[in-house]
Amino acid sequence: MDQETFVKLLNDDLSSEYQSIVQYIQHGAVVTGAEYLSVAEEIRRHLPQELGHAQILAEQIAFLGGTPTVDVSQVRPSSDAQDALQDDLRLESEQLSRYRERFSQANELGLADVAEALRPLLEQTQEHVRDLQTALGR
Ligand SMILES: [Fe+2]
Ligand SMILES: [Fe+2]
Repeated sequence: MDQETFVKLLNDDLSSEYQSIVQYIQHGAVVTGAEYLSVAEEIRRHLPQELGHAQILAEQIAFLGGTPTVDVSQVRPSSDAQDALQDDLRLESEQLSRYRERFSQANELGLADVAEALRPLLEQTQEHVRDLQTALGR
């Protein structure tokens, strides 16, 4: 893989983080009711971390000479808490496999700084997947 392809993939990751931000804002409003109190709180805790992920990705893309995208991956609006949580789990799981790939690609390209910068994304996304699995009783 060359650096240009790697930057393109980072931009796809960034679009996906924009989707997370939009989705968690919408879901934070939809996931309500006594049975979802702790889940709603978790969603609100994820949101600022997603902002951080988007910022890190945009900085790494610029550092590698690319232009950070402003394209947001398509978000499906949700009106039901279970649906919303399932969409969140699906998206976080996709992102987890993307970041696992990106982390090893960065190392293969000899971009140790970029790999280091991506590590918190990988770790926090892993936590988000676990949080959502617990919320859904899996
Ligand atoms: Fe994220
Ligand atoms: Fe996340």
